[in-house]
Amino acid sequence: MSGPDPAPDRHRPQCLDAAAHAALRAEFPLLADCVYLNNNSTGAAPRAVEHVLGGYWETLRTWRDDVWQGWHVGLDRYADSVAALLGAPPGSVVTDANLSTLLARIASCFDYRPPRDRIVTTDLEYPTMPFIWNAFRRYGARLDVVGSGGPRFDEDALAARIDERTLLVCVSHASFTSGATIDLPRLVAHAHEVGALVVVDAFQTVGVVPLDVTALGVDVVLGGAHKWLCGVGTAFLYVRPDLVAELEPAATGWQAGDRALTFQPSTGWAPGARRFAGGTPYPLTSLVSQVGLDLLAGVGVDAIRRHSLALTQRVLDRAEAAGIDVVSPTEPHRRGGVVCLDVADGEAVKRRLAERNMICSWRGYLRIGPHVYNTLDEVDAFMDALEKELSR
Ligand SMILES: Cc1ncc(COP(=O)(O)O)c(C=O)c1O
Repeated sequence: MSGPDPAPDRHRPQCLDAAAHAALRAEFPLLADCVYLNNNSTGAAPRAVEHVLGGYWETLRTWRDDVWQGWHVGLDRYADSVAALLGAPPGSVVTDANLSTLLARIASCFDYRPPRDRIVTTDLEYPTMPFIWNAFRRYGARLDVVGSGGPRFDEDALAARIDERTLLVCVSHASFTSGATIDLPRLVAHAHEVGALVVVDAFQTVGVVPLDVTALGVDVVLGGAHKWLCGVGTAFLYVRPDLVAELEPAATGWQAGDRALTFQPSTGWAPGARRFAGGTPYPLTSLVSQVGLDLLAGVGVDAIRRHSLALTQRVLDRAEAAGIDVVSPTEPHRRGGVVCLDVADGEAVKRRLAERNMICSWRGYLRIGPHVYNTLDEVDAFMDALEKELSR
């Protein structure tokens, strides 16, 4: 985690004020149909998305060549809104279809010359992380995967493996299977001491856990819209502004060039994070995702975190009372937005809960991920249903 947590151990975290919360909930029609605690997988879509989709169709229906100018404004606005959420300056974030595309683009910036050719990562990463780094072995990347031996990152083992041979440390801010967070300030300080760069997959935290990339001094942060940011189909890449000039992606496209929008051959890179752009962008997903991002920014990520901690604490309290095994860390500063429970026959349990309109996900554990628009009553209703299922 970065920076002081808004909910220290000694205080019970607080839910949002009831009136503000009711108004926020009303923006998410999905919540009227089910108890939706699946935000670590896919966030709910705000109702105003329908208006954006209608506008997009209108743009296509009445197409003129200068539409692209407006679309670029929308694309930049979304990227800069993500930057603001991360505590980063405008122009330091670029978007693309998914995190994998952007991570591979970053990977293509290095030549993996020994002795600094190692990529240190963990066994708690989303599968795209080892998959991409395995592919880059052909260019000389040496992958070093630190075992965790359980649902938490083994941060001492990780620190011990980062040394002068380490080019990049690539880790999640929170594990997608357990929700455990990593101590980013400690990691960044240690990596920088030995000259390694830190690449963080923050897909499971941005939007629900505060992350100030500037205060942290982290080098690269990746994430995406469709979970805690209540968007769809777009991912983002932040690169520390004073590092940008040192990175030249080999996996690139014409939009990364300095003369891209003149349609002349470029002679250099576009300014800022735009050098990590690819080909023609897909504006619809940024326009749609702007709606959720604006709603969340209006609440503020510290207030979201407090609310989230109150809800996940209720899951933990209920699980403990019912004797259900908790996989996620229970300390507030060590858990992200999700609580994972180890239940027998979990995948079938998840399916049966869905039949009762109680929505969560299963990835080896039952993952319960309430967001800022959920209520304590919904958590109780879900846990009541879960207890009933488990006592069948
Ligand atoms: C931690 C994490 N990283 C990455 C992804 C997805 O990556 P991509 O956008 O490449 O599909 C997910 C889930 O979708 C995730 O939970």
